[in-house]
Amino acid sequence: MTNLYPILFLFPFFLLIQQQWCLQQLAYMDDGFVHINGAHFTLNGEPFYANGFNAYWLMEVASNPSQRPKVTSAFREAIKSSLLIGRTWAFSDGGPNALQSSPGVYNENMFQGLDFVIHEAGRFGVKLILSLVNNFNDYGGKEQYVQWAKERGQQLQNEDSFFTNPMVKSFFKDHVKTVLTRRNTITGVMYKDDPTIMAWELMNEPRCPSDISGATIQNWTLEMACYLKSMDGNHLLEVGLEGFYGASSSQKNPNNSTYGADFIANNQIPEVDFATVHSYPDQWLSNQDNAAQLDFLQQWIHDHIEDAQSILKKPVLFTEFGKSWKHPGYNVSQKDQLYHVVYSSIYRSARTNGVAVGALFWQQLVQGMDSYKDGYEVILTEPSSTVSLISRQSKKLSVTHKRFLIKKRTQAPRAKRLMQTNWIRNGLQIHAHDEIIKLYKQRGDMN
Ligand SMILES: *[C@@H]1O[C@H](CO)[C@@H](O)[C@H](O)[C@H]1NC(C)=O
Ligand SMILES: *[C@@H]1O[C@H](CO)[C@@H](O)[C@H](O)[C@H]1NC(C)=O
Ligand SMILES: *[C@@H]1O[C@H](CO)[C@@H](O)[C@H](O)[C@H]1NC(C)=O
Ligand SMILES: *[C@@H]1O[C@H](CO)[C@@H](O)[C@H](O)[C@H]1NC(C)=O
Repeated sequence: MTNLYPILFLFPFFLLIQQQWCLQQLAYMDDGFVHINGAHFTLNGEPFYANGFNAYWLMEVASNPSQRPKVTSAFREAIKSSLLIGRTWAFSDGGPNALQSSPGVYNENMFQGLDFVIHEAGRFGVKLILSLVNNFNDYGGKEQYVQWAKERGQQLQNEDSFFTNPMVKSFFKDHVKTVLTRRNTITGVMYKDDPTIMAWELMNEPRCPSDISGATIQNWTLEMACYLKSMDGNHLLEVGLEGFYGASSSQKNPNNSTYGADFIANNQIPEVDFATVHSYPDQWLSNQDNAAQLDFLQQWIHDHIEDAQSILKKPVLFTEFGKSWKHPGYNVSQKDQLYHVVYSSIYRSARTNGVAVGALFWQQLVQGMDSYKDGYEVILTEPSSTVSLISRQSKKLSVTHKRFLIKKRTQAPRAKRLMQTNWIRNGLQIHAHDEIIKLYKQRGDMN
């Protein structure tokens, strides 16, 4: 028993040190970057939950200065609807109008388009997720990279050689480096130092049909994640996964199939900061009816939140979901129902401080972009039940944590804010947080 006395005696000093440490942390966390703390996002020291949108077209459209008002409008409308995260392509590979026309050769117009996108996002306070290559051959993709290597004498079997061939891997690493070290011609800030960028995404929807064991994608993800993180300690990183499980859990996947990716193993790589999920029941279960598709969706979201919470212990962002009017039997109330299922599942998790961060619908267009319509588009300036639902749900999600913080602040601004930060930082349990509050109260430090 006597052994405890020195510890009790030291406890006030511990609190003092803790408080100093908090002050430093607060300064560090006020840097405008989205950070990870435990299984949560934070922004300027506060929990960050937010919905958002996909708009892959931003760079391409901004590369033509006369079209830039479309980009500005996309961000302005997003913010009005509390959509705080935008996901877009930082790639287009091959051909005359590409960002990267051949390995290491870049189109300055296109890069200035991306400069503009980042600058505008910053002006409106939207955080960006930038994806670095495509699994599919839209805008080049892994097929284009493999083609480039073939033209340089490599004997390659198929496009999955993207993940294993040393020449292809070095082309991709060079692209990563070129984008991360790009100095924005408008802001003067290097991309890797720009807090407007929330996260890098290695690849849009990595799949490897030629190795469904998962080893190929696992190895590639590990290598590229380490490479990117060695260059950029500021930004978060995610893989771009759709959320397909590996062979041991393939019954959770659409069609019970495996796709060469593994939601658990890929996201367990320490350099990967958060998990991602895509949801397209209308495509994935195209031969089932709307009710069956919604059942699948509910289970799909539930499984991923559960696994992110208990196995990965990392945040999970639903980076793509949507419903196309092109599918047979479509009506708008089905679309609203699907959006509602996604948003309400996330909100339920978020309001109890869970790991689900938000959802980004596919895809936001603005007026005058008919050639980009793919059936999934949402135009925020055209009133509809879907647009109202998006705004209502996103507003609700983005203030979830703020309500909690404001209440605390009006009671005891400073000490509690510090404790809140401390709690977030450490991922301590709430009861530990309450214990600290009690101690502060006893010491009369609450104001
Ligand atoms: C993955 O990496 C491990 C360890 O380096 C290696 O033994 C294995 O052959 C690799 N597998 C594939 C499919 O690349
Ligand atoms: C998938 O497997 C489950 C059993 O785990 C089965 O009930 C279901 O019919 C299968 N679905 C398909 C599309 O094969
Ligand atoms: C599942 O099978 C259906 C019908 O063959 C197909 O349309 C769909 O693309 C498949 N799902 C996935 C995720 O590949
Ligand atoms: C939309 O489709 C569902 C079936 O999926 C049906 O129950 C509903 O009545 C339809 N709504 C309208 C407005 O047609």
